[in-house]
Amino acid sequence: MLTHLITFRGALGLSSLLTLACSSTASLAPVADAATALDTAAVLAPEAAVIDAAAVTPDVPAADVPPPPPEDLDMAATDFACLTTGTKVRRFFLWNRLGHLDEALAVANSPTGGAYPVGTVLQIIPFEAMVKRKAGFNPTLGDWEFFSLNVAKEGTTIVSRGTTDVQNQFGGKCAECHLPATAKWDFVCETTHGCKPIGASPELIEAFQNGDPRCP
Ligand code: HEC
Repeated sequence: MLTHLITFRGALGLSSLLTLACSSTASLAPVADAATALDTAAVLAPEAAVIDAAAVTPDVPAADVPPPPPEDLDMAATDFACLTTGTKVRRFFLWNRLGHLDEALAVANSPTGGAYPVGTVLQIIPFEAMVKRKAGFNPTLGDWEFFSLNVAKEGTTIVSRGTTDVQNQFGGKCAECHLPATAKWDFVCETTHGCKPIGASPELIEAFQNGDPRCP
């Protein structure tokens, strides 16, 4: 009903309503009242028109509704942030850009390992990142997407991204080094999961972290 009244009023236009109102003194009060009533109704129940529109949408049988697409995180260069805005876990920083931070931290702090949730971003230095993609993205390496990045005050540039062939700025393949950490640790190396060391002292790693030019 409200929708129809609004449509009618919209088609006529407020000025037509007022013209109508002015052309007959007898109808002035009722038409003006109707306009006021409409305004009041629209303010009191602005969602009424939406509900009306939904009512005419035909019912779709449940079987025909496609399942929602799996969660995924396809990072753009601008999605990477100043390293120290992440949550620090031991030596690395962690984010979950799909709202699963607690779950990600639980895995990071589990003494028995586990798989990080989709949407997790890990970085230990500004120039490298691991991003947890949807199931099947990189089956041999825990569905991680590896990134080699350039960072400057103006922001982040993606040098390369992928699954098995991405190299860091020293020519080392991310996948080769991270594979020995195994699925138990979700291919996260840290210092005790069996990876070849990166050859940077904790002090140097910290210097890179504190020197991230993207940080305010
Ligand atoms: C020479 C082996 C090697 C290469 C090559 C390498 N990493 Fe790592 N990476 C490590 C080790 C070892 C650590 C743990 C360092 C530490 O905690 O002191 C690490 C740590 C990390 C971390 C923090 C989480 C973790 O696993 O401890 C990320 C994220 C990461 N590397 C991403 C990358 C990406 C992306 C590339 C390629 C662009 C890459 N790494 C290349 C060995 C390597």
